[in-house]
Amino acid sequence: MSNELLDKVNKRRTFAIISHPDAGKTTITEQMLLFGGVIRSAGTVKARKSGHYATSDWMEIEKQRGISVTSSVMQFEYQGKRINILDTPGHEDFSEDTYRTLMAVDSAVMVIDSAKGIEPQTKKLFKVVKQRGIPIFTFMNKLDRDGRPPLDLIAELEDLLGIEGVAMNWPIGSGQTLQGLYDIANNKIEMYHKDGPDRFLSLDKDGKLPDSEPFSQNPQFQDTLGEIELIKEAGNQFDLQKIAKGDQTPVFFGSALTNFGVETFLQSFVKMAPAPASHIVNETEVLAPDNQEFTGFVFKIQANMNPHHRDRIAFVRIGSGEFKKGLDVTLARTGKAIRLNNATEFMSSERMQVSDAVAGDIVGLYDTGNFQIGDSIYAGKNKVVYPPLPEFTPELFVRVTAKNVMKQKSFHKGMVQLVQEGAIQLYQNYQTDEYILGAVGQLQFEVFKFRMKNEYNSDVEMTNIGHRVARWIDPEQLDPAMANSRNLLVKDRYGQPLFLFENQFAERFFKDKYPDVKLTEKL
Ligand code: G4P
Repeated sequence: MSNELLDKVNKRRTFAIISHPDAGKTTITEQMLLFGGVIRSAGTVKARKSGHYATSDWMEIEKQRGISVTSSVMQFEYQGKRINILDTPGHEDFSEDTYRTLMAVDSAVMVIDSAKGIEPQTKKLFKVVKQRGIPIFTFMNKLDRDGRPPLDLIAELEDLLGIEGVAMNWPIGSGQTLQGLYDIANNKIEMYHKDGPDRFLSLDKDGKLPDSEPFSQNPQFQDTLGEIELIKEAGNQFDLQKIAKGDQTPVFFGSALTNFGVETFLQSFVKMAPAPASHIVNETEVLAPDNQEFTGFVFKIQANMNPHHRDRIAFVRIGSGEFKKGLDVTLARTGKAIRLNNATEFMSSERMQVSDAVAGDIVGLYDTGNFQIGDSIYAGKNKVVYPPLPEFTPELFVRVTAKNVMKQKSFHKGMVQLVQEGAIQLYQNYQTDEYILGAVGQLQFEVFKFRMKNEYNSDVEMTNIGHRVARWIDPEQLDPAMANSRNLLVKDRYGQPLFLFENQFAERFFKDKYPDVKLTEKL
């Protein structure tokens, strides 16, 4: 074991931000990048309106629609730590991508709009994070607007998400009357809209201001003192062990847009968030992050992030060891030996060659078609296989053809490459080989169509098949005559047959007709 490697690993903080769209994820990400010194101005709103876009929103489609479509990785140094933020698309049609990204982080930040409270998408994503048992830090955003009472917001965490909330700071007023934040953890007050020496007021050991301090008479502050007493007596007690397991979440209030409370949040987060932990590999083995041999898994594949470079990038979360240029690894799925000559770290769309990436970091490997989502790679002799990533059975389907029959080559290339990214599933009609795409959300098809045109110069025609229930059938039991328009017979990318049932009635009808045939939900 090398202490040098362990030191490096312990400096890593790799996390994702989860939220419902519009809660302020992009804005807070930008503020963090600003503190990390990787961008010089934030102001997402102004930038978007003037035609410049958030660092994390680099793709053409994102610019057009104003939504985050793909996960990006952003890296910066802060207070001696190497921070990796894995961005996740907020729109629920892309939740698959988000779920897989959440498998590659060590903690999560949950951004909540303090006027709206917990919204549906937050709830869904929270469940995934909770299942992983990793720490979750909460930022109650938009304090500069009138929001719900802070006590309600904390109670809602427990009521709707089943996680204890423990306040790290507390708003003094809100919206028009916002005065500042009572920083419970650091025993001071952070004043709103104040800079320099006036920004912080120190509290005495009882958490009070001296009477000589004019702010001590402020009515909002007086109210806050009452609330603080209440939460100190009746609220949840800060418990690092519960936080580590994801049973308790430290709650920070603030306003990302006015950059209020974000710095304190980031400082506390960096202190409390965990460094990369061990992984369970090969089903039962514990692999420590400071194990010398490099290992990792692919959680995302993306083609052509930069339209000027026609390439594909496999995003690898390093699970153990250190990445070095020219490293020889084995792809666990196929046993193929691959030399990793070309890799990038991410500063959003600005790519840099990797300098020192260790467990916890994400590297982007230029890929010529070797990798699939979920692949494990390892250096050394011992085979290492990471647990499978979650896969989702598509529910929406379309038929796809090339508009221009002369351009079949770019059509096929685009189909194959985009499908390998894993956001969309490819099927073929069992008899005619016609292409059928399956996705979880409609927007995925739109992005696909756009990218086929934009990146592969291929106009595609999509015919809606609509909602279908996908069920696999044992090839031995298959008789193609079982298929009809209500249960479309297709094959997946491994050539395995499945039926796409029009609805559950069609499925039941089929089961009644063929009681001996076994159908399965997943391959
Ligand atoms: P998202 O990534 O979670 O979807 O949210 P994003 O940061 O894009 O923020 C959504 C909207 O909320 C933006 O306004 C943003 O300016 C605003 N916002 C974020 N944080 C705060 C905050 O602390 N206070 C207030 N008052 N607003 C905040 P928008 O008008 O939708 O901007 P635009 O996208 O139209 O430019």
